[in-house]
Amino acid sequence: MIKTIIIYIKVLLYCLAFLPLFPALAQSVQTQKIVISGPSTHLVSAVKEIYREGGNIFDAAIAGAFTLSVTHPYFVSLGCGGFALLKNRSGIKALDFRETAPSKMTEDFYVKTKLSPRDLGAAVGVPGFVAGQWAIHQKYGSLPWSRLLNPAIKLAGSGFIVSGQWLRRTQGLSKKFNLSGRRIFFHSDGTPYLPGQFVRQDKLVEALRLIQRKNKTLFYNGLIAQDIIKTVKANKGVISLEDLKNYRVRWLQPLKFKFGAYQVFSMPLPSSGGIILARAAKLMEQKKINQMTLYSISEWHLLGEILSFAFRPRSQMGDLSSPAPYLEKWLSRRSLKKLGAQISLNKVKKLPVLKDTLPHRESNETTHFSIMNNKGEVVSMTLTLNGNFGSFVVTDKYGIVLNNQMDDFNTYPGKPNQFGLIQGANNKVRAGFRPLSSMSPTIVEKQGKVVMALGATGGPMIISSVLQILYRYLFKGLNLDAAVQAPRVHHQFLPRVLFVEKNRFPPIVLSLLRKRGHKIKVRDSIAKAYAVSQKKDGLLEGAFDARGEGAAGGL
Ligand code: GLY
Repeated sequence: MIKTIIIYIKVLLYCLAFLPLFPALAQSVQTQKIVISGPSTHLVSAVKEIYREGGNIFDAAIAGAFTLSVTHPYFVSLGCGGFALLKNRSGIKALDFRETAPSKMTEDFYVKTKLSPRDLGAAVGVPGFVAGQWAIHQKYGSLPWSRLLNPAIKLAGSGFIVSGQWLRRTQGLSKKFNLSGRRIFFHSDGTPYLPGQFVRQDKLVEALRLIQRKNKTLFYNGLIAQDIIKTVKANKGVISLEDLKNYRVRWLQPLKFKFGAYQVFSMPLPSSGGIILARAAKLMEQKKINQMTLYSISEWHLLGEILSFAFRPRSQMGDLSSPAPYLEKWLSRRSLKKLGAQISLNKVKKLPVLKDTLPHRESNETTHFSIMNNKGEVVSMTLTLNGNFGSFVVTDKYGIVLNNQMDDFNTYPGKPNQFGLIQGANNKVRAGFRPLSSMSPTIVEKQGKVVMALGATGGPMIISSVLQILYRYLFKGLNLDAAVQAPRVHHQFLPRVLFVEKNRFPPIVLSLLRKRGHKIKVRDSIAKAYAVSQKKDGLLEGAFDARGEGAAGGL
């Protein structure tokens, strides 16, 4: 008994000592007309510039996305893909502009060719970024398209000062790039650009100007398409002109679920994000987690267990043609009630591994931005090249970084992995299909009014992070910034590990979690989130994660 009391006192003292630090990391802004949270000040400036010129939130978001393709080529490029949730007066729509598998690819492509789904030309999926931005413009745009490209063209042509993140993303990697990439992203002696130095991208300016004049046309059938095909081919890839010509975005209904009094909208398949968030939210409600003390051992334990249970069927997910029976299985009230009954509040429960399961390794890159205005309009957009600089292949003529999104497919079906498990069949490589994703652009409403929008970087950790921010902001009374900065855990069912953030969990907490059966692994950080909200007094608020570089601003 005395031992238990001492432990609780130690935990309490720790919390008292460290909790005040979280608000001290404040990164939030409050504005009246429009608020933006994202990875870069250039994005924030572009959004403000376009909004000031009379553009709407969607125009501004397109301009911002294009600036990221210049300033953040390690996460975003004209050769990447992504998802967006967009809200205007007629409701919320989800846009899928994720990459597709080239027509020459079959499920055994990588087994047969021994090519890598992670590096070089065979890693490249047919990019959707440009088609995605054009689709947003066509559906929601108010300013002429050509105006939206101006901020990005200026940044690529005049150059911009690189940050510490740029150095971390390039240092020691020059040899991974093809020649074209090496010439653009490194000094002529192969050394990386240092923080404070200028980078210009003259070839990219040409591509952006062509897109400015001819929208997506030349990217999918014309000069830029030829450049992509030639470069991919020279690096042993198989994207054809037909693949580019046939690329189509998809407008989808968001995956919608109730979380307490809130209505949450997130990304449906081919993202696993919305489904896993919905499962976790329902399990949290069932287990009444919001009655637990914030940052208590019981709360961390339950969060870990709920995430593990919620992630379990991810291995069965994919770009499904008929998802209805699966959704019933994963999301029905009955199945979740049965699942929740198996969660113990005191001990880790090891559910058996589902048939066809592989603990799939995903990259931790990707980025996100959220924008909201005082008219109740929202853009929540997640963009990704998959890995850092994607495939490390950069097109020769226009300097476009190409993704390595093919690695998000299960590329070796039928082949047992290191645990002797067989990969999930629904995410195998099929021509024209999209790989499974974790990207979770999310919007929350209460009684039809927008409350918040958010998303994060970081592969499957995106889902765990979005969930914990929602929970802390909506149910635990933390302000937006505190909810974003709060420590996080991550569990994805396999490996059977509870990931915790370095220096944010005292040894006593970890040892008590171990006692409950958790195998703990420490990570530097668990994702980076970018969130916006409308407060009760009507002010707009934006917060970005102090775990990395970012910016929040507005008008
Ligand atoms: N490539 C990261 C994701 O789609 O989840």
